[in-house]
Amino acid sequence: MRVIVADHPLIAHKLTYLRAQETDSPTFRRLTEELMTLLAYEATREVRVEPFTIQTPVAPAEGIKLSTPKPLIVPILRAGLGMLEGMVRLLPSAEVGFLGMARDEETLEAVTYANRLPDDLSGRQCYVLDPMLATGGTLAMSVRYLVDRGADDITAITLLCAPEGIAAVERELADLDVPFTLVTGAIDERLDDNGYIVPGLGDAGDRLYG
Ligand code: PRP
Repeated sequence: MRVIVADHPLIAHKLTYLRAQETDSPTFRRLTEELMTLLAYEATREVRVEPFTIQTPVAPAEGIKLSTPKPLIVPILRAGLGMLEGMVRLLPSAEVGFLGMARDEETLEAVTYANRLPDDLSGRQCYVLDPMLATGGTLAMSVRYLVDRGADDITAITLLCAPEGIAAVERELADLDVPFTLVTGAIDERLDDNGYIVPGLGDAGDRLYG
């Protein structure tokens, strides 16, 4: 597993306002989208492309285009939805699939409650969107889900991570035989006893959607 912390002053600036408790829902949603677009730039560095020749008004030119099958974007409901627009803006021709997962707040275990994905993901590059990686249960389960269906290259994009969660995902997915990259805006200090990231930003789903 490769971990990339997208180190950019604009990302740090927007994350600061996102964390602030006085930031209201509309502003939180806008910042999440903007952050996603910045993170998407980093996360799509290795998007699959193929050569493509076009004709300029002057001469033929060698270019590139996205390969087929097109990448699949998978926001994890609900909070991942807040990141979707920012990603689609950069990859408008990608397909979108949905995975609904929630944490049982007692056990902190992730459970799947909805799934709208193509059955066969063979040969697909997938981008998983979820603002928070706390205990890591949700992300580990989502990645496993996609790999079991044939995905052969997965990049997860998060706004914030807890170090304990990254270690847990690494442990859980140690046997994964496809490339897996995690791109995040920041790695915070720790996880508290309730499974919240510290200092974090609270509950992303609640702050986005109430
Ligand atoms: C939050 C968050 C992640 C998950 C992270 O979702 O959006 O999906 O928790 O926690 P983990 O790393 O400990 O698994 P939540 O379960 O609150 O659902 P929501 O997005 O519907 O609010």
